Amino acid sequence: MNAHQRPDQIVLNLTVNGMAQIISTSASKRLTDILRDDLGLTGTKVGCDAGDCGACTVSLNGAQVCACLVPVGQLDQATIATVEGLATTSIGAALQKAFAAHGAAQCGICTPGMLMAAADLLVRDLAPNLAAVQDALGGVLCRCTGYQKITEAVLDVQRIMNEPAVSSDCENAHHKPSIGTRLAKLDGASRIDGSALYGADHAPADALWLRVIRSPHASASFVLGDLAAYVACHPGIVHVLSAKDVPGENSFGIYPDLKDQPVLADGHVRYRGEAVLALIGDKEAINAVHAADVPITWQVEPALIGIAAATATGAPALHSFRPDNVLTRGHVEKGDPDAAFAGAAHVAEGMFETGFVEHAYIEPEAGYACRMGNRMEVFACTQAPYMDRDEVARVLGLPLEGVRIIPSACGGGFGGKLDVSVQPLLAVASWVLNRPVRAVWNRIESMASSTKRHPSAITARAGCDSAGKLVSFAMEGDFNTGAYASWGPTVAGRVPVHATGPYAVPHVRNRSRAIYTNETPAGAFRGFGVPQAAIAQEALFDSLAHKTGIDRLEFRHINAIRVGDATATGHVLEASAGLAECIAALRSDWQAMLVDAAAFNKRDLRRRRGVGIGCMWYGIGNTAMSNPSTMRLTLDSAGTITFWNGAVDIGQGSTTVLAQIAADALGAPVDKLRLVIGDTDLTADAGKTSASRQTFVSGKAAEHAGRALRNEILRLTNAGPNATIQFSGSTLGVVDGDNHQTLDLSSLANQKDGIVLEGIGKFDPPTIPLDAKGQGIPYATYGFAAQICSLDVDLDLGTVKLNRIVAAHDVGKAINPMLVEGQIHGGIAQGIGLALMEEFLPGRTENLHDYLIPTFGDVPEISIILVEDHEPMGPSGAKGIGEPALVPTAPAILGAIRHAVGVMPTQVPVLPHRLWELMRAKEPNA
Ligand code: FES
Repeated sequence: MNAHQRPDQIVLNLTVNGMAQIISTSASKRLTDILRDDLGLTGTKVGCDAGDCGACTVSLNGAQVCACLVPVGQLDQATIATVEGLATTSIGAALQKAFAAHGAAQCGICTPGMLMAAADLLVRDLAPNLAAVQDALGGVLCRCTGYQKITEAVLDVQRIMNEPAVSSDCENAHHKPSIGTRLAKLDGASRIDGSALYGADHAPADALWLRVIRSPHASASFVLGDLAAYVACHPGIVHVLSAKDVPGENSFGIYPDLKDQPVLADGHVRYRGEAVLALIGDKEAINAVHAADVPITWQVEPALIGIAAATATGAPALHSFRPDNVLTRGHVEKGDPDAAFAGAAHVAEGMFETGFVEHAYIEPEAGYACRMGNRMEVFACTQAPYMDRDEVARVLGLPLEGVRIIPSACGGGFGGKLDVSVQPLLAVASWVLNRPVRAVWNRIESMASSTKRHPSAITARAGCDSAGKLVSFAMEGDFNTGAYASWGPTVAGRVPVHATGPYAVPHVRNRSRAIYTNETPAGAFRGFGVPQAAIAQEALFDSLAHKTGIDRLEFRHINAIRVGDATATGHVLEASAGLAECIAALRSDWQAMLVDAAAFNKRDLRRRRGVGIGCMWYGIGNTAMSNPSTMRLTLDSAGTITFWNGAVDIGQGSTTVLAQIAADALGAPVDKLRLVIGDTDLTADAGKTSASRQTFVSGKAAEHAGRALRNEILRLTNAGPNATIQFSGSTLGVVDGDNHQTLDLSSLANQKDGIVLEGIGKFDPPTIPLDAKGQGIPYATYGFAAQICSLDVDLDLGTVKLNRIVAAHDVGKAINPMLVEGQIHGGIAQGIGLALMEEFLPGRTENLHDYLIPTFGDVPEISIILVEDHEPMGPSGAKGIGEPALVPTAPAILGAIRHAVGVMPTQVPVLPHRLWELMRAKEPNA
């Protein structure tokens, strides 16, 4: 230590990405802090700060490590490599190229860690086998990709390194259609070189930090002490934010008439993890505070845990406006289900239970807010910038135009970033203090405070005739929405519409309730309740197949809803219902799997192999309500084509897919488009990124925008609709047969910012509201799918090992097949988690080492069959894929378990102890 060095300071001599660095820093830091805070290398991500997720994987002295676990005391004279330096090595550059070419990065938050782990392997073994790749990368979690494309990319590196370099010296002014091509993601480079800025990666240098003090109780009243005195005794803390600081309405929520969640609790909390106060100040000062020392006096009250407690006679009301704790009800009824059950040849029924499921996006919630005079700017991870704008404006008491939302790169959402998190708190803090304020949730508070998949308790009944034709279906489903409404009404509304599954059933009665409890709020999670309902419905259809003696796949093929059939809401499908084709496409694999399972079970006494099938349908977009999107394409006087796209890309690839659609509609090469993405000051409202809607809804708007701009160019050049347009600089060439025209853009009148021509496209899919019996047209179109799987159950341990999954999906048109496959892989991985391992227990599971999500070894080989049953309303016939990818997986797995061991699981996840007990009970309840 030298004379000027503080006792807690340490001086490090490092080599980072080949450059010598001398750093004087705090001895209490870890390598992630050095890289991100001291050196500004934010390509290294922090997902858990506990060595669980591997997002922070870097190379330390030639071996991969989790940087969050390395204390600075171990770093002097160290050599470190991070993603920012990867391209300087031939292996690293080829690896990045392989990730781009294979679509191995979706949201990209895990990608730097994956790349560094892969590079660690490849320098030792340039031609690894599958097992070696899975082993080397096994410490890094990915929530988006299902791992398959990552594996394929790593296995392809050697080939890429041996590829001859391709010259790109001729400028591409001519249009080649990009729809249907496996175009690499247009925003992919920033995901694989570490330059993408996520919520935690960027803030003004003078930003204060915000830390939330959360309730340790599920239900309690509280009184605050003297906060001013508390601040005065704590140097480095400049303010403690409480409910009384909120300048506008201290409430937020998804629905205009259901703003039931406070920004900061006001004297009462309804779940463990609820925000009560926020400390603002220096990072070290606010993090040094013990929450228990903050002056809050608690009066703990009895908590309503679970649906039964909340609906028991005499249960206290969580919210005065719902005295029975029933947030909302959903109902769909068609025909006379009771009479149809009475006349059915076979009836199956059962009760099914699912628990909370955590989104487990690898990027915890983060961002900053900055007051700009009388306006507020918020930079944060989100799936719904315009909804965020509206919430922040209400909370601040500002007009809508007083708020600008700038979405950061989004490190995974899956529905969990449809609700605001950091946004209103940061906005209030920045408004009150007139300083930029930033926050990064840690993993524990992210899991404690963010919304979850709704736990469900479902009773269902299904009947068919002697030939196996479905005649009746009924479901009663209760969904635990937790302490606040969030997307509870959406779940309660969507489930009865979908609960019958993708089948033609003449008589239906489906009812649902969303119930308030003193638990973590449940919200949107890939499927809005449909995956839970599908587990029940598909299990009953397996039972009916068994009772009728019909093969389970054929039973579904017989009953698959087809064009001309009516849904449970009375919607007669006029086009694009590709389920029967999906099922038929799986027939040969199904038969092979059955034969294989029978042979396996003859030779293995300790394990049983089973085969299962699950089918699904999913209404694309909002349920029976307006669902618009607006897209804009412009040309400036220099010939720059700009695509103004307000759809947030959460990793699924909408930035690329919508650009492909817009470019093809315009007749321009897609790489000619300059992209402006998702800023509420710059782009129009494309609606939220959810409900599998962006390809269908915003895609159609993008198609309209492209055509509008094209038509304008053709009008000005007097060309016909089949003319080709050459985009190169300020003069457009327009060729219509023998007629060659030019259009000098610089001669056209300028609008704002040099724009001379524009095309605006809007689309709002047509729906008809549901009536009192739930009859109407809730969606303009539906996605369909069938998945089959083979698995082994260990009879001694109750463990399940997946062997293979084959997925057939009707997507209308695969705009970008590689990205569609990526969505299916990722959805299946999440479906595996739902079926076999994921269970969030409020107050108990609080990080990624006690909440387990699928790793490389948990996801089997997945084969994909894309069925393109053209949807006339969609862009080039496309529908959507985000949610459909997940829904059928758990039913297929549960069906395979039942086929293997003869017992029907009725509770997910099917943890080993649950399956072991079921098998011991020896009471098949089919
Ligand atoms: Fe891996 Fe999103 S791409 S977590």
